[in-house]
Amino acid sequence: VTAPAPGSGTGATAEASTHRYSVGELRDFAARVFRSAGLPEGHADTAAEVLTAADLRGIDTHGVARLHQYYEMLVQGRVNPRADVRILRETPSTARMDGDNGLGLVVGPAANELAIEKAAAAGSGWVSVGNSNHFGIAGIYSLRALERDCIGWVMTSSPPQVAPFQGVGRMLGTNPIAIAFPGRAEPPMVMDFTTSAISFGRLEDAIRTGGALPEGTAIDREGRMTTDPHAVKDGGALVPLGSDAARGAHKGYCLAAMVDVLSCVLSGANWGPFAPPFPADLPDSGRRVGKGLGHLFGVLPIASFREPDEFKEAMDHWMREFRGAPAAPGTGGPEIPGHREHHSSVRRRREGIPLSGTVVEGLRHLGVRAGVLFD
Ligand SMILES: NC(=O)c1ccc[n+]([C@@H]2O[C@H](COP(=O)([O-])OP(=O)(O)OC[C@H]3O[C@@H](n4cnc5c(N)ncnc54)[C@H](O)[C@@H]3O)[C@@H](O)[C@H]2O)c1
Repeated sequence: VTAPAPGSGTGATAEASTHRYSVGELRDFAARVFRSAGLPEGHADTAAEVLTAADLRGIDTHGVARLHQYYEMLVQGRVNPRADVRILRETPSTARMDGDNGLGLVVGPAANELAIEKAAAAGSGWVSVGNSNHFGIAGIYSLRALERDCIGWVMTSSPPQVAPFQGVGRMLGTNPIAIAFPGRAEPPMVMDFTTSAISFGRLEDAIRTGGALPEGTAIDREGRMTTDPHAVKDGGALVPLGSDAARGAHKGYCLAAMVDVLSCVLSGANWGPFAPPFPADLPDSGRRVGKGLGHLFGVLPIASFREPDEFKEAMDHWMREFRGAPAAPGTGGPEIPGHREHHSSVRRRREGIPLSGTVVEGLRHLGVRAGVLFD
């Protein structure tokens, strides 16, 4: 069995499934599960909204399939269900926040909203937030900024799974970056990707299905390239974007380090190897240099630079020009980042969200634990 090609997500497997749910059904279920774990109603709704946005966008590894992992962190008392997200320091355009060890799906939206408000008031907004936890897909935050005619820029640290370039062992998170730009008639362009060669979700998938990892994405405990996902768990690591020196892994390492510093060192969160585990069953060194995980939200109002409508028209032109470039042999030609996720959202809103039998079984099991029916 081989793993799917990069960029193909895991939606294809679920798409073939016969179980389909409306986004409203999944959102209601997730919100009730969060409430049963102690979240106030507004926070539970926010968290459910962010989580199911991943399902809509076809990023199945980060949607309701992960709900049990957040639930586990909450019921084990490792995440604070009643977080009071606070500003520690601020200027008109910047803030450092403390997430009070809350669910990242609640802390992230609060910090992102502050960055958007600051951008509207001061011409740009930057918020670095620590003492947080896993916040779901980065892209959904960058898309929020578009509703206010802004460009959204988001990054987050995550638990250590990635070796530093020319190093051995898990020291960096898969540390994704997302940036979103609006179009006028065209869907937004959204880059949303890990700075590692593959995501941790892909590693989990390979372990669950007994598949192999793609070549050039992981090393074993001695630093030799491997496609065996168990070798990664057993002291190995994922490698930075680029895979190896010839393919620019030093630059993937630079990007991951940038995310780590802006999200964690700046906010006072645990950087690199000190980040706390998520999901709960990952090994934990217990060593800490700060509080929780960290994220950075940056918001640039387009009007600070150019008339928003003019910019959006120019973006439409940009996207059409690139989509119209000749296709390389054996490909469907260039795509615009974020468009396949946009089309997935439109289709899944209409036809429902397909869930594999395994995910449905998992949600039923979780429903029994949380006292919330899932059928
Ligand atoms: N919160 C966390 O700690 C955390 C950690 C890691 C990843 N994530 C999330 O996991 C998700 C998956 O990340 P990933 O790196 O596996 O994604 P990926 O490798 O599937 O890449 C996704 C990006 O590439 C674009 N893309 C895909 N195919 C393309 C093509 N042919 N042409 C042009 N663009 C194309 C997509 O539009 C998207 O912007 C992201 O949403 C990320 O935010 C979250």
